[in-house]
Amino acid sequence: MSPRLRHLTTLENLPRATIERLLDRAEALRDACAHGTRKLNVLAGRTVLNLFFEPSTRTRTSFELAARRLGADVVNFDLGFSSTSKGEEMYDTLHTLEAMHLDAIVVRHKQSGTPDALVRHAMSGVSVVNAGDGNRAHPTQGLLDALTIRQHRPDFENLRVVICGDIKHSRVARSDVHALSALGVKEIRLCGPAGLMPEEDEFPHGLRFDDFDQAIANVDAVIMLRLQKERMDSIELPDEAAYFARYGLDQHRLGLAAKGCLVMHPGPINRGIEIASDVADGAQSRILEQVGNGVFVRMAVLDEVLAR
Ligand code: NCD
Repeated sequence: MSPRLRHLTTLENLPRATIERLLDRAEALRDACAHGTRKLNVLAGRTVLNLFFEPSTRTRTSFELAARRLGADVVNFDLGFSSTSKGEEMYDTLHTLEAMHLDAIVVRHKQSGTPDALVRHAMSGVSVVNAGDGNRAHPTQGLLDALTIRQHRPDFENLRVVICGDIKHSRVARSDVHALSALGVKEIRLCGPAGLMPEEDEFPHGLRFDDFDQAIANVDAVIMLRLQKERMDSIELPDEAAYFARYGLDQHRLGLAAKGCLVMHPGPINRGIEIASDVADGAQSRILEQVGNGVFVRMAVLDEVLAR
């Protein structure tokens, strides 16, 4: 058996067995909930700190719900709108909070690498879980996307998946590629305008496209990404109408994909910019299922790093 994780900062280089164990655990928790068990006590007496330096709706709420459903106490520290951008201040904040005897810190920060810095600075015994750092990693999103695909299409060795949009600035794309390639997905395609594609060496696994009609042909799942304007220089910003015409997912383009293709998006979605409303709300959309799976994946991760 692959060793239990103490922290989760990235999916990069995690063994397939570890990823599968987390997905299996998330599924077992989902089944338990479906049978009426809303609350477990496995983390009773433990304290989880949600330390969010960037705004978040889904991720923060679902980490909070996940911790509570496992019986842990939760403290939320939202710093998204304050000016704690200096490292010094963050560690001061951290040590202040640690003095309150935490067991895990769930962190989101605009600077890539912050969770690993916390692993180095945190007092021993405190687990760190990455809830998104810069454009680098968003491991629980990678896991929930893999879980959502697996639920419908467990035959990963036959699957074609396309990720389309602002790949360059997307931590979701990076973690999705790490998860899906570890799990043996047959073909991962990356599509976006040249200016929003990452360097070649950063994504050794993906086949690259700049034409979305070609990229979506015969795929089994399409993961759409938002234009992450908060991470762009003004010169990178595309014209939104022109962008939708070339890279937006509408019914016509979805028709080029394989029959029953899963439509996914980490949210928040921008209707009419990267995805048409009728597709986001359509029969093939798995977007709300992704949100639901997010809670179970985060329960599985907290259980993994905190269970005695
Ligand atoms: C993503 C994120 O924050 O990286 N959202 C999320 O976690 N639900 C993607 C995004 O913000 O576009």
